[in-house]
Amino acid sequence: MRRLLIAGNWKMNCGPYDAAELLEGLKTKKAEVDEHVDVLVCPPFVSIGMAVKYLYDTDIQVGAQNLHFEENGAFTGEISGSMLAESGCNYVIVGHSERRQYFGETDESVNKRTQIALEHKLAPIICVGESLEERQKDEHFELVKDQITAALKGISETNALDVVIAYEPIWAIGTGETATPEQAQVMHEYIRTVISDIYSNETAEQINILYGGSMKPANAHELLSQPDVDGGLIGGASLDADSFSEIITIAEELS
Ligand code: 13P
Repeated sequence: MRRLLIAGNWKMNCGPYDAAELLEGLKTKKAEVDEHVDVLVCPPFVSIGMAVKYLYDTDIQVGAQNLHFEENGAFTGEISGSMLAESGCNYVIVGHSERRQYFGETDESVNKRTQIALEHKLAPIICVGESLEERQKDEHFELVKDQITAALKGISETNALDVVIAYEPIWAIGTGETATPEQAQVMHEYIRTVISDIYSNETAEQINILYGGSMKPANAHELLSQPDVDGGLIGGASLDADSFSEIITIAEELS
């Protein structure tokens, strides 16, 4: 009943020209996607317009990588939820570990971003995950629970149904090292119990929980086969039309 979501996070890659090339490749391979699978690309802000233009007649949706939590005003360099919605985005990533690590984002600001995203009908993809040190100290479950609880503070159960959670262990991001399918499953199952405790079992069963961290065609089948892994948030492999399309095909085969 949960649809698989395959989402590409392009990070700080692909200005409009490179985006056009990547989108062209993607469009050639995957303009139509199985009805049980959702596909999304999240380009940098300056390439969102290009992506919306290229993908309007395909099954691929467009999202952003971040948003500011104020409506508008004197916030130089920031982008608001209404701007993203107006630009054709349906989703927005919030609280990626790179934003937490390099740009000082906190659980509190992630919560504010989640709220404003929902107000603008942008499905927030809330990123959570532990560092290697936290895992080694066996603090990863508690940390992820705290991140999720903080991000969802004040979000109604109805609105929570539009939220997507992405579990991205920091030690697996861009390192080539992936969580084993078992490690991913154990954490995803735990995340569902956290959501169930906040809302209800019914709601927890409906929310998509993505895995992110060095997902690629070679490991996608194993990871996506896990019962609580509902898709992937893919960095490096989403920058290559062949690799990203292959992962989409794997998701289609599993649906
Ligand atoms: P990689 O797939 O490059 O490890 O990145 C994962 C990620 O951070 C997606 O948001």
